[in-house]
Amino acid sequence: MRISRHGSTLVVETPAKLNLSLKVLGQRSDGFHELHSLMVSVRLYDTICFEPRATNEVELSITALTPSASEIPVDSRNLVVRAAKLLQEISQTEFGARIHLTKRIPCEAGMGGGSSDAAATLICLNQLWNLNLSGEQLHELAAELGSDLNFFIDSTPAAVCTGRGEHISPIPVNRSLSFVVVKPNSGLSTADVFKHWATLDQHGTDDVSNIEEAIQSGQLQHIAERVSNDLQQPARELNDEIDKTLILIAQSNVVATGMTGSGSACFGLCRSWRHANRIAAKLRSQNNQHVWVVKSGV
Ligand code: C5P
Repeated sequence: MRISRHGSTLVVETPAKLNLSLKVLGQRSDGFHELHSLMVSVRLYDTICFEPRATNEVELSITALTPSASEIPVDSRNLVVRAAKLLQEISQTEFGARIHLTKRIPCEAGMGGGSSDAAATLICLNQLWNLNLSGEQLHELAAELGSDLNFFIDSTPAAVCTGRGEHISPIPVNRSLSFVVVKPNSGLSTADVFKHWATLDQHGTDDVSNIEEAIQSGQLQHIAERVSNDLQQPARELNDEIDKTLILIAQSNVVATGMTGSGSACFGLCRSWRHANRIAAKLRSQNNQHVWVVKSGV
């Protein structure tokens, strides 16, 4: 994420993520699922402005520039508000904030937009309110709020995420990756997709074969061979637009096709930025509305 200060206001650009591989290792006694996932940060950003307030109110407003963002709540159902209130609670600060979120990352897409926004809220309000919480403390709060926030806390370009997703092992990426991303009109709820995974006759995989080595090698073909997502099957069964989207991308001459997180966004790994733009133009000309071209990076 990129943070800049303008007078007393902090402005942050919060990136999205794609899961190039996601293995579900099994269900845990707390109801969550044990994961092994390779996530890359991608340069599609929400923008959040934080203005301090002398009273302890937290006020969120949203400009929606992406599908279904107009339905995002601005009360404590929103992770940004929850992150701000959690910080207030543990620090006992008297300050509040006026927060404006410009939403570009699609919702219910598996691209981590809400988690990235909430991680940025922890980092920015820690600065703005002079709380001096350590990185470790911010990670603890992040894990309390959700499974995907920790990946965004340290602005890591790529990482293997384990546990329920909150344990992060950064890995170096020595080439930039270009993707075309397509989101069907309808989204998917993460909880529903995991619940459906548990009803399928799958026992969790112990094959967590080496996508991290492939990423470090920078060889597209090696990466392509390891793109996989155990949540794809339950997501396809819950939403028939997933199959159509995967087929559409696969027919576009990409190096590999996959679904990110619990969906519903799907991606094509492309040979280059130009290649990704060419494919996106073709998909848009065929009346596909929700198409993005993104590069890996923080
Ligand atoms: O942690 P987060 O709020 O992102 O998760 C949303 C829902 O997805 C959880 O309530 C849980 O039902 C499911 N989930 C899971 N196993 C994980 C992550 C999420 O079952 N590792």
